[in-house]
Amino acid sequence: MTLSSRQPDHALTGPRKTLHVNLFEMACVSHIVHGMWREERNNRHRFGEMAYWLDTARRAEAAGMDAIFLADVIGIYDRFGGLDASLRLGLQIPNLDPLSLIPAMAAVTETLGFAATFSTTYEPPFSFARRMSTLDLLTNGRVGWNVVTSYLPNAARNFGLDGELEHDSRYDRADEYLDVLYKLWEGSWQEDAVIQDRESDRYADPSRVRHINHEGTHFRVEGPHLVQPTPQRTPVLFQATGSARGLKTAARHAEAIFIGGRTQEEVRTHIARTRAEAAAQGRDPAELKFYVMAGLIAGHTEEEAQAKLARYRAYYSVEGASCTLRQKSTCASSTRPSPSVRPWRKAGAALVIWDDALVPN
Ligand SMILES: Cc1cc2nc3c(=O)[nH]c(=O)nc-3n(C[C@H](O)[C@H](O)[C@H](O)COP(=O)(O)O)c2cc1C
Repeated sequence: MTLSSRQPDHALTGPRKTLHVNLFEMACVSHIVHGMWREERNNRHRFGEMAYWLDTARRAEAAGMDAIFLADVIGIYDRFGGLDASLRLGLQIPNLDPLSLIPAMAAVTETLGFAATFSTTYEPPFSFARRMSTLDLLTNGRVGWNVVTSYLPNAARNFGLDGELEHDSRYDRADEYLDVLYKLWEGSWQEDAVIQDRESDRYADPSRVRHINHEGTHFRVEGPHLVQPTPQRTPVLFQATGSARGLKTAARHAEAIFIGGRTQEEVRTHIARTRAEAAAQGRDPAELKFYVMAGLIAGHTEEEAQAKLARYRAYYSVEGASCTLRQKSTCASSTRPSPSVRPWRKAGAALVIWDDALVPN
């Protein structure tokens, strides 16, 4: 997966920039815009069917998108409305493992990338390194990873803890998690370690593969990595963060930062802060790409798009949006107003909408 392979084929005046567009998806009936699955022509209830994902991947590639970006959580939203509301409204439950969807979608596409969310907080790095390398091999280098540290207390209880690890220490753990992965992906196998020499009965050359012997604060990993060098070795790293501590991790590792933001000013400030932090850590800040969330309602004509917007409003679940938004709110008793949806810009026949539910934290 590369962030710079697609170039516009028309001449532009001024400095040329490539706009990268990902489809933001999640393998569940209701990701962030809740209630839509009830619309008669909506297909989200088919998220457990292979055909649904093959069709989505083919369409995303045909539309010229860079990647399908798969969100994930490993627990439930139980702070407002409890499990009851989550199940009734399908709020990210049921929810499938995003990594498992990738090989099927890769088989029916050629250039589309796939970025999946995976948390550094609960599952150990060794097994994840192997899973990612497997995907990198099978997709011929078209995978990315959205590095998250998780925010649902129920997720912690699902993995044997009483509650979430303290916020900043989750990022300390994430930094070490990534260090382990770099050692496995980049440092365990030399490029020419696989010889496949039938004559001499040698598949791989033992002198070109090494243990990593990582001994850190959170992890002890001997190695070697179980997978030979893959096309990318380290997949494209995405990060989505809001906090000062999270920003340090993002600026250290990420190639692409996925951000929400209520105003252009907020987005601009977030980008400037992240680039400054990257520069402080010795990276070229210009290397970082930023993806901003946008809701698009497309139609062949503006009337068609407006009619879709009317249906969007009609099916919109304020209860669902409130449950997920308030879970993520840092206020103990949320004072957030009810989520609202309003047209923001026109782009040809398409409408770019502003929906509070599209700001995920
Ligand atoms: C656009 C966007 C997408 C995100 N997707 C996920 C996700 O799929 N899974 C997840 O656990 N967290 C996701 N998050 C939450 C972040 O990982 C992070 O927890 C949140 O932005 C709060 O930042 P902080 O952890 O630095 O405080 C997302 C955040 C943003 C801005």
